[in-house]
Amino acid sequence: MAIRIPRGWELPERLATPEHLVLNRRAALASAGLGLGLLAPGMAQAQGAALAPMPAPRSTKYPPGREVTPERDATTYNNFYEFGTDKGIHRPAQALPTRPWTVKVDGMVEAPREFDMDDLLKLMTLEERVYRHRCVEAWSMVVPWTGFQLSQLLAQVKPLSGAKYVRFESAALRGVMPGLRQSWYPWPYIEGCTIEEAANELSFMVVGAYGKTLPAQMGAPLRVHFPWKYGFKAGKSLVRITLTDQRPKGLWEAIQASEYGFWANVNPEVSHPRWSQASERLLGSGERVPTVIWNGYGEQVAGLYSGLMRERLFV
Ligand code: MTE
Repeated sequence: MAIRIPRGWELPERLATPEHLVLNRRAALASAGLGLGLLAPGMAQAQGAALAPMPAPRSTKYPPGREVTPERDATTYNNFYEFGTDKGIHRPAQALPTRPWTVKVDGMVEAPREFDMDDLLKLMTLEERVYRHRCVEAWSMVVPWTGFQLSQLLAQVKPLSGAKYVRFESAALRGVMPGLRQSWYPWPYIEGCTIEEAANELSFMVVGAYGKTLPAQMGAPLRVHFPWKYGFKAGKSLVRITLTDQRPKGLWEAIQASEYGFWANVNPEVSHPRWSQASERLLGSGERVPTVIWNGYGEQVAGLYSGLMRERLFV
């Protein structure tokens, strides 16, 4: 079916909100000395939810080899289609109620469970990891994320031997997310990976950034991050994580499989059908740098794919 749906990431740069005009609302309110009682409901919850000890100890195991992106750039240029298709969704995203929040972990597991977000934070050992984050649109950033290894969470529910994939489902809150009115998108936002990818040491569940509770626009209160894959694999504001023997079909794959496949591993030599992936623009400095295969994480992940070269690993 040749339906051509415009995506935010195809917007010309001139239509994106200029970064210097965009205020980080939370930072602005904080610096204005406003108390929690004066914040909009979503913001009050996000601030009140800072129960996790942050900043968590920083891991030096995965040096990103690049400067950390300025916080303001990383938090005002986001893809979160549930709130709209442009990059400036950090304002409407503040309406996301991040507490109370539960995430169900179910499917092919011995001990399915619904975690209250605050209980989950107490159960997991948090650390900070500074990872590269490469969007399929050919921009990238480096972010100090706070979180825990996905494998730590999976150990809680004990995957069964038949489980081959992990499916990630994002929240779809009709009253809060104006993007859901765009009914041609097959909501909710779904993504997935293999059980081996989920077990990899790099696969990270994110609850914070820049030493603070994760801002709504980055996928609060819980998102996943696979630093060697294009960013669209990293579902935000997760409500359900399901182990399954069926390969999950992501939202973008469901719309345009030829452009956004299941694997979506970073590779400068495999172009997107409509643009090159050879280089990327660093958010913040605006510098263009060569893209690196597996986004620079080959040492940790290349081995996952040794038997899979017939798959479309890089689309
Ligand atoms: N998750 C949800 N639920 N909705 C989205 O629109 N966009 C994806 C991914 N996760 C998206 C999502 C895309 S295309 C990218 S590049 C990253 O989130 C962007 O993450 P960031 O805004 O924190 O940089």
